[in-house]
Amino acid sequence: MPDIAECAERLRQLSPAYEAEAREKYIPIIRPESLKLLLDAAKKSRCSRILEIGTAIGFSTAWLATETGAVVDTIEKDEERLERAKAFWKEVGIEDRVNPYLGDADELVRRLASENRYGFIFIDAAKSRYSDYLDAVYPSLEKGGIVFADNVYYLGLVKGDAYPPHKHRTIVTNMRAFLKKISNKDKFDTTVYDTEDGTAVCVKL
Ligand SMILES: C[S@@+](CC[C@H](N)C(=O)[O-])C[C@H]1O[C@@H](n2cnc3c(N)ncnc32)[C@H](O)[C@@H]1O
Repeated sequence: MPDIAECAERLRQLSPAYEAEAREKYIPIIRPESLKLLLDAAKKSRCSRILEIGTAIGFSTAWLATETGAVVDTIEKDEERLERAKAFWKEVGIEDRVNPYLGDADELVRRLASENRYGFIFIDAAKSRYSDYLDAVYPSLEKGGIVFADNVYYLGLVKGDAYPPHKHRTIVTNMRAFLKKISNKDKFDTTVYDTEDGTAVCVKL
């Protein structure tokens, strides 16, 4: 396995072009401020195994793997994106540190959560499903482990309690339910950051 510090350096060099590729192809990947929060939280968790729900082309996966040294299990339903991700991880040198799973997160999350224990879980797939992902992963998350969720304010529509436009109603309603769950002080110590599209960091108590 290549040295992790060498992989991290390679990732730093490759990242700007890879971010540009994602922009050109309209593939949503984590934005810079949220990436900083993600990596800070992941490093703080000192985890050995990470679950990522929503790989896209493996940009955040690569950062998580190189910055923490943990093994990353990651789920994506789009085969073309996952193939691009695998090629990228190979280029970075981390293909042996990542376990990619192709398929629907609803099913895969349940399976992986029943087979593994995680110190860090990054929720970044279907925005209407966060609350269900949380229920499924909760038992597999170690005490003191972290759930990190991106886009929790979803275009700013989730803030407050205004009635959402019809087109976004399911996502907004379900994301509000997710925010309510993570504000349960018996279960989580949660901070929601108003950066970019809203980011939640929840420590399991
Ligand atoms: C925001 S992107 C992930 C970005 C990635 N975490 C990053 O920051 O580099 C969300 C991804 O989740 C995938 N996705 C959405 N719904 C899914 C589902 N039900 N099962 C698996 N993947 C899903 C989408 O195809 C998309 O590539």
